[in-house]
Amino acid sequence: MAKFRADPSPLKVDLGVGVYRDLSGNTPVLGCVRRAEQAVLAEQTTKSYVAAAGREEFNGAVEEMVLGAAHTARKGGRARTVQTPGGCGALRVGAELIRAADPDVTVYISEPTWGNHTPLLGSSGLRLERYPYYDAPAHQLRFSSMLERLDRAAEGDVVLIHACCHNPTGADLDPAQWQALAQLLTRRRLVPFLDLAYQGFAVDLDVDAAGVRLVTEQVPEALVAISFSKNLGLYRERVGALITISESESRADATLSHVLQIARSIYSMPPDHGAAIAAHIFASSTLKREWTLELTAMRTRIADMRALLARQLCRATGDEAFDFIRTQRGMFSLLGASVQTVERLRDKHHIYMTPDSRMNLAGIMPHNASYVAQSMAAELLAAQPVG
Ligand SMILES: Cc1ncc(COP(=O)(O)O)c(C=O)c1O
Repeated sequence: MAKFRADPSPLKVDLGVGVYRDLSGNTPVLGCVRRAEQAVLAEQTTKSYVAAAGREEFNGAVEEMVLGAAHTARKGGRARTVQTPGGCGALRVGAELIRAADPDVTVYISEPTWGNHTPLLGSSGLRLERYPYYDAPAHQLRFSSMLERLDRAAEGDVVLIHACCHNPTGADLDPAQWQALAQLLTRRRLVPFLDLAYQGFAVDLDVDAAGVRLVTEQVPEALVAISFSKNLGLYRERVGALITISESESRADATLSHVLQIARSIYSMPPDHGAAIAAHIFASSTLKREWTLELTAMRTRIADMRALLARQLCRATGDEAFDFIRTQRGMFSLLGASVQTVERLRDKHHIYMTPDSRMNLAGIMPHNASYVAQSMAAELLAAQPVG
């Protein structure tokens, strides 16, 4: 980020950041958020504490949005939801809960995964292992290797699963793969920890929660970490939630009491402002409709840039394999280039990515797509072994 800022070239393109950018290169405050924020400020009469669990109306709306109104665990009183400081807060509280339940458990994370998963889960003292997920040079999921590895996990181990828009690969499971995974988790008695940070960025709010719903309908116990940083653009307000699903209603109460004890011991109470805004939007049919439209606009812009870059890159390299950029989902994909190629793209072409060649497609603009594609093609072709 520092190198990008210091680069004086007018050609520079930032594909390294982790946030959404609109056509002007801004990470905007959504219109629905502005309106809800004004209402929240006008209605607010106190800054007194809310509660360790956060806002009740927020938690109820989030649980329904993620699990769906008809979920068996909700009907059976087995689901509990608490507001957390962002998705990171939910991941961290979840990690502490797992460790309190069984300190010897192993948590399996995807190879590759989002860089923060390791410190967020590992610093609670949990043992982390990796399961194969994606072959970057081949632009393909490693689904059978993933199942094979998880089949050898011990009963009670936890599997962290990206719910949609996998970060950094953009490669998600299809419905049949979700079903196969759910069956394996159930058969091997593994506990899914689903990370839902991009609900609405792939298809829509419901479809993007389908994997979470499918898995949590089948297993007795699960955790879901939710973030509203991306889909509401509330990054700095720290809005998230943790859903726990337990075997029985009484276990669900005990789990909730553990979760609240953990929250109190880390941050006491979650921040209120962002959750108040989110809850206001969820409760208003007008604002919710506006949100859905704004979310669709963000998603469409990313999909358009995916299609544009894929087309230009296929043309520039003469290799149709780069169409994977169009078909993957969410903000990120891996170009599948070496660290050296990433460095050459930065030093010669002023195009910035993370060392693993992760591209944020929201960094592509209609005016720079061709330049980015030509530069990538030149460096990828130069890096190929001769003959
Ligand atoms: C995969 C994944 N999980 C969780 C998060 C948590 O985000 P936050 O703590 O900002 O809500 C992110 C944010 O980038 C993410 O990419």
